[in-house]
Amino acid sequence: MADGLRWGIIGTGWIADRFAADLEHTDSGAVVAVGSRSQETADRFADRFGISHRHPSYEELAANPEVDVVYVATPHPLHHANTLLALEAGKPVLVEKAFAMTADEAQELVDTARAKSLFLMEAMWTRFLPHIREVRRLLADGVLGELVAVFADHGQWFAKNPEHRLFAPELGGGALLDLGVYPVSFASMVLGPPSEIAALVDPAFTGVDGQVSMLFRYDSGAQAILSCTSAAQTPTTAAIVGTEGRIEIDGRFYAPSAFTVIPREGEPTRWAEPHVGNGLRHEADEVARCLREGLLESPLLPLDETVEIMATMDAVLATAPAA
Ligand SMILES: NC(=O)c1ccc[n+]([C@@H]2O[C@H](COP(=O)([O-])OP(=O)(O)OC[C@H]3O[C@@H](n4cnc5c(N)ncnc54)[C@H](OP(=O)(O)O)[C@@H]3O)[C@@H](O)[C@H]2O)c1
Repeated sequence: MADGLRWGIIGTGWIADRFAADLEHTDSGAVVAVGSRSQETADRFADRFGISHRHPSYEELAANPEVDVVYVATPHPLHHANTLLALEAGKPVLVEKAFAMTADEAQELVDTARAKSLFLMEAMWTRFLPHIREVRRLLADGVLGELVAVFADHGQWFAKNPEHRLFAPELGGGALLDLGVYPVSFASMVLGPPSEIAALVDPAFTGVDGQVSMLFRYDSGAQAILSCTSAAQTPTTAAIVGTEGRIEIDGRFYAPSAFTVIPREGEPTRWAEPHVGNGLRHEADEVARCLREGLLESPLLPLDETVEIMATMDAVLATAPAA
């Protein structure tokens, strides 16, 4: 199942659309099936992308023997059930972020995949983007010296619609799991799990978290300063600061982007490459690579780290005053 991985998608919303479009920019796989809550939406999606298998239920999609791997693209409260469905059907799974609603849910998915020896990965697409791979290479080379701090933010403006996924409690509404997961995952990639967490969590108009500012401390002595909001567009930049210099990633740091390395002494250098597509094909390529090489998880985003990131977000939300 190497080249030409056959993808089946659960859900036909915004991100499913972009993922299917991006797969057209890679030869590592193609969407062959889609599952929706109705035949009509399955057909509409399938027509747009020339998909032959269109299922009126997620169960049918998961059971389709023509599907090598399932991509779960439903709202986060459904990730747990939808991922279990695919794993129970014997399929490897790529699960949208936030991976689950809590660390406990995430751990159950990881345990199930491991028990069944099936591949599982969080679709934290940022991790697999070319500029982030280059940043990691520079960090591994010790270019920044001893790491002192990570700064990152992710704010988007959303109209105040109580039915929107970002605001509806029953759809997993909240800025942290949707937007804040990017800076939290970025800090995790650079500094690992925090040893201490402080946060301000303020509600949006529906009561779900709307704006969150976070301060993390690490055993190394480094700190992370992170924030997210669903009320305004923020710079969405990120910086990694060390004793020998810093890396400043342009906004939107979590999407295909560019960065500048600014040494403590000497001239800055710029990294920038043209990029084709939305940036989602890189995670699909990583899934294809892992399956080809017989890996059950990606070394670039290990499952224990995904669970740890969920635990960090659990701890941040636990600091919110009771409503
Ligand atoms: N990687 C990224 O850049 C990125 C960007 C946006 C979102 N996401 C993540 O992707 C997931 C989906 O987000 P989205 O923006 O694509 O959401 P969306 O546009 O609302 O689509 C979600 C899809 O899930 C299915 N669904 C099943 N039960 C549902 C319910 N009760 N209410 C609404 N939809 C339901 C629907 O498909 P059917 O009707 O066909 O069943 C729907 O089209 C979220 O976890 C989100 O965090 C990731």
